[in-house]
Amino acid sequence: MIIPDEAHMHDLGVQLAHGLAPGEIVTLSGPLGAGKTVLARAIIGELGFTGDVSSPTFAIIHEYDEPGMRLPVVHADLYRLDDPEEIEELGLFDNRDRVLLVEWPGMGGAALQAADIEIVIEPLPDGSRSVEVKDKRKRI
Ligand SMILES: Nc1ncnc2c1ncn2[C@@H]1O[C@H](COP(=O)(O)OP(=O)(O)OP(=O)(O)O)[C@@H](O)[C@H]1O
Ligand SMILES: [Mg+2]
Repeated sequence: MIIPDEAHMHDLGVQLAHGLAPGEIVTLSGPLGAGKTVLARAIIGELGFTGDVSSPTFAIIHEYDEPGMRLPVVHADLYRLDDPEEIEELGLFDNRDRVLLVEWPGMGGAALQAADIEIVIEPLPDGSRSVEVKDKRKRI
């Protein structure tokens, strides 16, 4: 689909948040500045987090869990992960009750190949974004 601007990217995040279940993994791919964090921020906000959501670039992971949230969330940005093996130390998979949102999943190696939803964002010359949402969940 074509997402014309940031407001529409936000709306897509809100819509995606409604379908998420505990433990589901969402990967967000695309180049620097594609809009991965914009989308993650909208998802985290719609799941009930009321504070600011910043990019986890330097910390690598931020956890969001406060009373009133429909689901707790972990937001990770693996861009600065030096070695895919380090992903174990981050504890991303320790608690399967949390929704996991991962930017730059390719830097995490094989561990993130089995995502429930894969989102690929491609910036277009006019400033819009081509967004592909691959839903891998098996629902009965
Ligand atoms: N159609 C659009 N959708 C999303 N963001 C847009 C769009 N058009 C412009 N933008 C702008 O693009 C930027 C996207 O930044 P964002 O931090 O979300 O990128 P990112 O993919 O997370 O990059 P990084 O890999 O550095 O983490 C924002 O400044 C946003 O305002
Ligand atoms: Mg980002």
